[in-house]
Amino acid sequence: MRKPIIAGNWKMNKTIAEALELVRAVRAGVRDISAVETVVCPPFVALQAVSEALTKSNVGVGAQNVFYEEKGAYTGEIAPGMLEGLVDYCIIGHSERRGYFGETDEWVNKKAKALLAHGITPIICVGESLEQNQAGETDAFVRSQVQKALAGLSAEQVARLVIAYEPIWAIGTGLTATPIDANRIISLSIRGAIAEMYDEATAQAIRIQYGGSAKPENIASFMEQPDIDGALVGGASLKADSFVTMVRETERVLARV
Ligand code: PGA
Repeated sequence: MRKPIIAGNWKMNKTIAEALELVRAVRAGVRDISAVETVVCPPFVALQAVSEALTKSNVGVGAQNVFYEEKGAYTGEIAPGMLEGLVDYCIIGHSERRGYFGETDEWVNKKAKALLAHGITPIICVGESLEQNQAGETDAFVRSQVQKALAGLSAEQVARLVIAYEPIWAIGTGLTATPIDANRIISLSIRGAIAEMYDEATAQAIRIQYGGSAKPENIASFMEQPDIDGALVGGASLKADSFVTMVRETERVLARV
């Protein structure tokens, strides 16, 4: 059984003081929840403080990006070894990084390998644009993003990863994929691609989140879908009450099915 994972992608929000205030409230809010994994992904500068504030809690910590080289002359970048011991997860290939900062599929693949070598679990983001969606290209595009991101990884490594399916047109827009459409892409294009590359057991083991305007009001409808294992949450993760509600709603749906 795949344990659902609700991860908050704070993006470029929160000072260190604000981050601490938020995680203290999240920590208290999900204290009694064990059936759902809760993760927060603050900006780099808050990672140390947040990770200390969450010691011995059931809330995990993730970074929002990493570079794939071990060290060297890469001004402004953070190496995977620098995150070791500080984070459990690291988001890679977010569409904002692909769109604004030119992150390619090849980089996502290198970053995934570098993180795994340091015992950090990548949360690999994939998802189509509005144009691709309207042109009926979603399946082929998402499938190819998955194939390129996972190239050269072993089945054991893939089984431990997290993938986030985030249609770009749904991110921060208030629009969402319908839960049925999101489930279909996750099942057909993502688990399907993994089953082709590896085997059915690996495709069934990997956890796949939905992302894109996920919020307290709609999280249950996504979690009711059989292939959706949680959410990558942007805007709604910036307030403790809405984020905690999403974790609780996920637990409520689990208890029902
Ligand atoms: P959103 O962002 O929930 O604000 O749409 C999701 C994401 O970009 O991960």
